[in-house]
Amino acid sequence: MPVTILAIESSCDDTSAAVVRDGLLLSNLIASQEVHRKYGGVVPELASRAHQANIIPVVDQAMKMAGVRPDEISAVAFTRGPGLLGSLLVGTSFAKGFALSRSIPLIDVNHLHAHVMTHWIKEPERDNRAPSFPFLCLLVSGGHTQLIIVRDHLELEEIGSTIDDAAGEAFDKCAKVMGLSYPGGPVIDKLAAKGDPQAFKLTRPSIKGFDYSFSGLKTNFLYLLRDSLREDPEFINKHRDDLCASLQKTIVDILIDKLVKAADETGVKEVGIAGGVAANSGLRQAVTHQANKKSWNLHLPELKYTADNAAMIAITGFFKYLKHQFAGQDITPLARFNV
Ligand code: KG4
Ligand code: ZN
Repeated sequence: MPVTILAIESSCDDTSAAVVRDGLLLSNLIASQEVHRKYGGVVPELASRAHQANIIPVVDQAMKMAGVRPDEISAVAFTRGPGLLGSLLVGTSFAKGFALSRSIPLIDVNHLHAHVMTHWIKEPERDNRAPSFPFLCLLVSGGHTQLIIVRDHLELEEIGSTIDDAAGEAFDKCAKVMGLSYPGGPVIDKLAAKGDPQAFKLTRPSIKGFDYSFSGLKTNFLYLLRDSLREDPEFINKHRDDLCASLQKTIVDILIDKLVKAADETGVKEVGIAGGVAANSGLRQAVTHQANKKSWNLHLPELKYTADNAAMIAITGFFKYLKHQFAGQDITPLARFNV
């Protein structure tokens, strides 16, 4: 009997469903919520309502695209957290109901673990090169910035994390003060391509070990804009691309600095990045450069798997299924959840 996993991801503002059979991805559908754009950030109550409206059609479509009937599903995996509680509740409740009605196992998945597991997503007729162990992964998303040593599919150790803001948050907050649209990360990435990364010198933290900090940079950027706007109200318009390029370069340098330190000190040569910010072209270039210099075996996720998606939940669920790591019907979502 093949092992067929249906997975649900609803931790933030994307409703996603995916089907994996024997470790191979058959479908991955994402319904994004446009409703938040005009508010400049995700509105939790609107997100959970949109998940409620989207979840049944998205699951239905994902199963149809995979060519899988409900009675062929071996287990249902879902994101338990971290994330917005109201959003997580929709996915968790749906998964529980589906598992109960079909008498199949329920598998809870940590969203951060799943981002790292992106590197094990296998698609038919594609180069499915997965990292070998141990694997050092820089996980950079809107809510998290962590350095993780992956010892096995289900054995992860966090060796460093941000002590304040996440890298994606730094991109988004700095974009907001420049009046750019939400989410700011991809907008900064685009504008940075036309700017001079050396135009503005921005502050870099001096934090010990493998931890990160981005709040000092955010404040420094804010004060630079405030002081410069006093002298020239057109400052942002005149220097927008240079500001974006300098900001992106600083964030990327901070990220790479600790990644290199971690690789050097642990001796791990299998290195990769994951999470929404892993789509950043500056980060991808910088990590590729370091990989060549340091002879790393580099793993860059495909762009479609950097943002939140259920394919990563499904593949993590598949590995948990093989180890019989199931959840009970009494399981509850967690807004905070360490890797
Ligand atoms: O992993 P993700 O989709 O959601 C979380 O789990 O947080 O990450 C979203 C984050 C946002 O902060 C967004 O601005 C950032 O990823 N992001 C980028 C880029 N694409 C998405 N940041 C910089 N450059 C990009 N190209
Ligand atoms: Zn995420």
